[in-house]
Amino acid sequence: MCGIVGYIGEQRAVDIVLDGLRRLEYRGYDSAGIASLEQGQLVTVRAESKLINLEQELRKQPLHGSLAIGHTRWATHGKPSQANAHPHKAGSFVVVHNGIIENYLALKQQLQQQGHNFRSQTDSEIIAHLIEQQVKEGAAFEQAVRQALHQLRGAYAIAVICEDCPDTLIAAKCGSPLVIGQGQGEYFVASDIPAMLSHTREMIFLEDGELAVFSRQGMQVSTLDGRLVEKSTKTITWNPLMAEKGGFRHFMLKEIHEQPRAISDTLAGRICDNKDGILLDGLNLTDDALKAIERIYLVACGTSWHAALVGKFLIEKHARIPVEVDIASEFRYRQPLVNDRTLTLLISQSGETADTLAALREARGRQGKTLAICNVVESSIARESDGVIYTHAGPEIGVASTKAFTTQLVALVLFSLHLARVRETLDQKAICELIRELLTLPRKVENCLELNEEIEQRVRPYIHCRDFLYLGRGNQYPIALEGALKLKEISYIHAEGYPAGEMKHGPIALIDEELPVVIIAPKNETYEKVISNLEEVKSRGGKILLVSDADTTQQQESCEELFPIPSIHDDLMPILTSIPLQLLAYHIAVMKGTDVDQPRNLAKSVTVE
Ligand code: AGP
Repeated sequence: MCGIVGYIGEQRAVDIVLDGLRRLEYRGYDSAGIASLEQGQLVTVRAESKLINLEQELRKQPLHGSLAIGHTRWATHGKPSQANAHPHKAGSFVVVHNGIIENYLALKQQLQQQGHNFRSQTDSEIIAHLIEQQVKEGAAFEQAVRQALHQLRGAYAIAVICEDCPDTLIAAKCGSPLVIGQGQGEYFVASDIPAMLSHTREMIFLEDGELAVFSRQGMQVSTLDGRLVEKSTKTITWNPLMAEKGGFRHFMLKEIHEQPRAISDTLAGRICDNKDGILLDGLNLTDDALKAIERIYLVACGTSWHAALVGKFLIEKHARIPVEVDIASEFRYRQPLVNDRTLTLLISQSGETADTLAALREARGRQGKTLAICNVVESSIARESDGVIYTHAGPEIGVASTKAFTTQLVALVLFSLHLARVRETLDQKAICELIRELLTLPRKVENCLELNEEIEQRVRPYIHCRDFLYLGRGNQYPIALEGALKLKEISYIHAEGYPAGEMKHGPIALIDEELPVVIIAPKNETYEKVISNLEEVKSRGGKILLVSDADTTQQQESCEELFPIPSIHDDLMPILTSIPLQLLAYHIAVMKGTDVDQPRNLAKSVTVE
């Protein structure tokens, strides 16, 4: 939530900061602003709503300086407005902030008593005033920032510049993400890697409680207490084109189409040459440690939680370990039974989701082993977990998660097979068969993507529907939930996912001629039962949209739409059935004219609790 960007160097800073904000807009987009040092004077330009409004303002008031900070906001404290947009100024300091300052009211009162006037309703503005106050009391710029940060409770990533220090940019983090990009005689700071990728791939990752001071000549990182810290630079392999739309109308559509490649990248290097085992190098868990595990918690939010629900099926089936699936925001408040024989597996595309990060810390605090499945390299969850399986899906910019989800499912299959081999719960033949099937996935996902045009042509009758019901059974129930979430978040149509067998216990009352029911019915052991549910829907007038790999000739009459998909091993089927549901949600949203990549009220990375 919220994206921050900062630049110090020789180039026109506003161009770099604006370009970075454009790539971070997925993090929040209700207002934006930039502050630039213009011939010794700080000039701040802010605008409500999307970045395009800020761009218009900047055309009226061009900025030319080579030191600037910028922000794109997702409101927490104070409504989206120009006054609440960052950067916030106090005296000769401007600050951009991502996070939440929990003790801001007490600090604000104290600052007001000291004569500070506030212009916004935000928690963030206090940071600028705290720095100003420290300087009034005699501290130099850097020291003032340290002292101000010492007073904060909560989460922050900040960038600060000062009118009187034209060669200094200060950045710090605690609980919110912040990455440094290193160029030639220039530095970038941003909430996420894609903001800087077109300028540098050399990145430095700040830890919580660290502060970086940049000049055009160099950079110094230290702890808030002033202890110098040696940082190493990591070269990021993502290329800048990966964060572009590449000719697609929306990032979401591009990312849906990237899935064959993304899945190949998740698999790359992880299957033994003779295709009889899995290699997971970042696991950091010995075979003995894996054998000693008595229980696994899968913890995540949103779409990643749906991946976790599929993961339960995979791990319990293959490795015969009891698995509990938790929504991250619930996990830490229910005193989970974590100990040194439990493994908590955190699933997060961004690796920055505050609830999932808190759950990870809860598990660690209880001496549990932890493992992460993340997409963003070096993200907080990836770094704080004992081990990590990266999905290597490439940057996902569309707020609605697509390729991140299917690659999480692939990572879960790999992990469950690895566990099964180590614990000897699955015979070698079964492991080899699943590996063979895994290797067919990219091609079969491509086959599913061939449905794109047909789905586009057929969605019009559904765009005015008020509700949708999604039904699936077994490992397809989480896909029903995911299909419903996709539709909700980008088309704003209410949708619910249900286990097909549960329909008769309540939701059947909803069915009438107005209700489209998406039924996911792969040809597996529950196929006949799901088809009976289909008939129950039909006899009550519901409109059926069927996703299946079976011969559906007999169902043709009963269904409004048929989305045929290729057959594959049942454990991998959730990956294939997800594709038509993504396309369905996407085309309905496009036809409704919603903002597909940046749906209202949402943000890609939810870094507040
Ligand atoms: C997915 O379409 C959503 N935007 C959202 O549910 C997301 O999956 C959730 O916020 C978790 O994010 P994470 O995977 O980055 O932790």
